[in-house]
Amino acid sequence: MRVIIEANSQQVAVKGAQFVSQQIVNKPDSVLGLATGSTPVELYGQLINACEAGRISFADVTSFNLDEYIGIDEQHSQSYRYFMNDTLFKHIDIDLANTYIPLGNTGYPEQEAKNYEAQIVNRGGIDLQILGIGSNGHIGFNEPSSSLQSRTRVKTLTEQTMYDNSRYFSPAEYQPECAITMGIATIMETKKVVLLATGSNKAAAVKAMVEGGISSMCPASMLQMHPDTIVIVDEDAAQDLSLREYYRSVERMTEKMNPMEAFQ
Ligand code: GLP
Repeated sequence: MRVIIEANSQQVAVKGAQFVSQQIVNKPDSVLGLATGSTPVELYGQLINACEAGRISFADVTSFNLDEYIGIDEQHSQSYRYFMNDTLFKHIDIDLANTYIPLGNTGYPEQEAKNYEAQIVNRGGIDLQILGIGSNGHIGFNEPSSSLQSRTRVKTLTEQTMYDNSRYFSPAEYQPECAITMGIATIMETKKVVLLATGSNKAAAVKAMVEGGISSMCPASMLQMHPDTIVIVDEDAAQDLSLREYYRSVERMTEKMNPMEAFQ
């Protein structure tokens, strides 16, 4: 794992966007794995700016989102399809037909999950996967105790995740308890992972992911086995890391040897 510690959430977004932009420039028909939640919103803002300025184009890009709630339809303001259209897709030159998100309202979620795996394979697999992390260490909606060999499937959300995400739903509104999510093994097959975490409420999860043992109790810890994972955190999310000074010195050396092209 490469751990990059930035001063604040804006710098995390800028750094994350540099990796994504570099991917698209190197391979214009990249297959991107996308995430929802509040963390990647600033990164998506950076990508929109880069697209508007003509520095990158999504015209040939395909995207696969990690997950979708079961039981609300695409028009619902809390569906991940709505979120992605609203936050990113309508602002960039991507062809909506090339944006894949599991369908949460087919009535056959297990079948949909299988189809989704097949669609990823048909498109040649994911080149770069953007991830956030839940406060309990989940990635996608792979909650603690998820099999580390899991594929796209239906998951029941934990109380912690229901609580964390309740801020998006009004008190009288139905909040889904289940979701379709890429599995841990699905995520492990992506060629590159860029995981973002910001804020002190993520510090314990980041510590467990980077420095804890590999365990299904912190599904993100499986990324220790991934050959190309970059974890970008702000100071608050990094606060519990024992080796943070080491990561900073490694990063200074890496930047010196491999200065990243500026895509800002
Ligand atoms: C949801 C999503 C995850 C996301 C997590 C954290 O549960 N399924 O993909 O990483 O929330 O969200 P936030 O970035 O809002 O903290």
